[in-house]
Amino acid sequence: MKRIGVLTSGGDAPGMNAAVRAVVRKAIYQGVEVYGIYQGYQGLITGQIEKMEVGSVGDIIHRGGTMLRSARCQEFVTKEGQLKGIQQLKALGIEGLIVIGGDGSYRGAKALTELGFPCIGVPGTIDNDIPGTDFTIGFDTALNTVIDAIDKIRDTASSHERTFVVEVMGRNAGDLALWAGLSGGAETILIPEDPFDMDSIKDRLLKGHERGKRHSIIIVAEGVMSGNEFAKKLEEETQFDTRVSVLGHMQRGGSPTAVDRMLASRLGARAVELLIEGKGGRTVGIEKNQLVDYDISEALAMPHQLDLDIYRLSKELSI
Ligand code: F6P
Repeated sequence: MKRIGVLTSGGDAPGMNAAVRAVVRKAIYQGVEVYGIYQGYQGLITGQIEKMEVGSVGDIIHRGGTMLRSARCQEFVTKEGQLKGIQQLKALGIEGLIVIGGDGSYRGAKALTELGFPCIGVPGTIDNDIPGTDFTIGFDTALNTVIDAIDKIRDTASSHERTFVVEVMGRNAGDLALWAGLSGGAETILIPEDPFDMDSIKDRLLKGHERGKRHSIIIVAEGVMSGNEFAKKLEEETQFDTRVSVLGHMQRGGSPTAVDRMLASRLGARAVELLIEGKGGRTVGIEKNQLVDYDISEALAMPHQLDLDIYRLSKELSI
């Protein structure tokens, strides 16, 4: 393989730039040319493609967002859109593609591979919900952003003796809520994977109150319900003075942590190696700190598992 492409797709995640840098530099180091595709699959269809040099990815390892920009592209869900993309790649003599993104991006990569164009999926999303890896690029940074917010909210919650509901991202996966809740010392964590019981939440809050606790932090993953909706229900049940903080898209920004830069560098470089080895249609990931790769269809068929031990522990420590 002498010429490859790289794109970022779906919701951006801190560390995507570090992954793009790793792809570009590793490929050039191996004597392979690299083309950057701007604006994800949208740019692939419209041909927003440029050759990348070593210097094209200078000064980006520490930057949030993605220099290649990103998009959610409906047209690429269709076979017609996918064939247009392949046409653009072939016109430039590109023989393989590295896709950095989440679940939807993997589906695009799978479709292209099935149409005969080899792709490698690199997990980039703050949600940490991609099968075939213990961690996704961006999760650690987003987690630290949420923790920082919780710590600040705790200060004002404590001064005013209030209950705070903090809504974090995660439509289908509760990883961010769970990890942030445990490491931020939240009283209650609501995740999409486990239906909540208002009575037990109420009991827990009241018990805490009885033993002198003056404030509480409740983390709600957006996939459960909106923070405002939950706070309204809670206030009706408890009459506690409740406030809501919806963290929103700030969770997707910011300079990536060292952990995310390391992960991105390792996974990006491994993706290039796989293409050079002639192995298309795979995903890269990290398990027990070892790099792994899976067939992309098999990976997509694996359910994402929330770490139940961590979930149990969060309940044990927030009594
Ligand atoms: O997939 C990442 C993510 O940030 C989710 O946590 C969130 O539900 C979604 O993207 C938001 O997407 P958008 O930026 O398109 O509103």
